[in-house]
Amino acid sequence: MTASKHLIALLQSHIDGDNEQFLAVAMQVAAHEARQGHGNLAKQLRDLVDEARSLKASRTSKPVPFAQPKGELAALISATYSDTRLTSMVLPTALEERLKRIVTEQRQHHRLIKHGLHARRKILLIGPPGSGKTMTAAALAGELTLPLFTVVFDSLITRFMGETAAKLRLVFDAMLETRGVYFFDEFDAIGSRRAERNDVGEIRRVLNSFLQFLENDDSDSLIIAATNHPELLDPALFRRFDDVIHYELPDTSIAEGILKTRLSGFDTKGMRWKQVVEATSGLSQAEISRAADEAAKRTILDDRTRIARDDLLGAIAERKASTER
Ligand SMILES: Nc1ncnc2c1ncn2[C@@H]1O[C@H](COP(=O)(O)OP(=O)(O)OP(=O)(O)O)[C@@H](O)[C@H]1O
Ligand SMILES: [Mg+2]
Repeated sequence: MTASKHLIALLQSHIDGDNEQFLAVAMQVAAHEARQGHGNLAKQLRDLVDEARSLKASRTSKPVPFAQPKGELAALISATYSDTRLTSMVLPTALEERLKRIVTEQRQHHRLIKHGLHARRKILLIGPPGSGKTMTAAALAGELTLPLFTVVFDSLITRFMGETAAKLRLVFDAMLETRGVYFFDEFDAIGSRRAERNDVGEIRRVLNSFLQFLENDDSDSLIIAATNHPELLDPALFRRFDDVIHYELPDTSIAEGILKTRLSGFDTKGMRWKQVVEATSGLSQAEISRAADEAAKRTILDDRTRIARDDLLGAIAERKASTER
């Protein structure tokens, strides 16, 4: 890339509020300088990126105190602040549009309310492991600068239905009090654990109790539920969600997008993307990004800036082997 192209990429990521991309482009400039033989300049740039990263990490580890859940609630939900953005996700256009629509409606929910309309806010995400459901919850919280409250299912489910309902009530009360993204992750976790004990009736009761709270809730928090096992949910219950969004394993263009985004801080000139992408077939978004990270780590530790195709193919093969086991 020429200097102007780098500058454009920096400005674009600034406009998008995409910190990761901004730093990734800065790393590209560093790699470019290194190739030109400007070692000092390259090092200065890399040090600055490191400094920016550690600053960001120390800032995000200090959440705003008012939103930290207290008392009994603290055992049920964990609060985080997310800087993930939708732009950090590589998504099929239709899915991206649906997520953007949630953000747009949420950002302008006051305008809608004036006309008796409501922003969509009860969302069900369905899809295989590693397809980006949890990342979506984080990205929506990041886009809306709302705290992300993840509901800890293990502490929610007790052997006594009455108690579970009381705990659910605490969480739903919190939604009224503190606007946030409330993420009910991995319904399937309860599903499989209970199913092992042949206690399917119990799961259904917990889910039904959840769905009843969901139906009655009219807070202005965003409620996101995610599952790998939609078959555990009664299809008639789906209508209680404003949106039911399906995630799929990546096609070749998504796979390529994820690899390129993850490796944007490195030199990938001459990479045979088609061959690499074909090798990822069957892997999830999570596994593909992990393979990219493995290749990146190797490159860094070998003091190189260029990703070796064999490293990347090797990392992909390793991910495949571990999923087939
Ligand atoms: N669309 C995407 N674009 C870029 N990276 C992605 C995408 N989807 C997933 N990833 C990567 O995969 C990781 C894992 O994804 P995530 O945890 O969101 O999957 P999940 O659908 O919640 O899986 P599970 O059902 O196992 O909880 C993310 O942290 C991210 O690094
Ligand atoms: Mg998840």
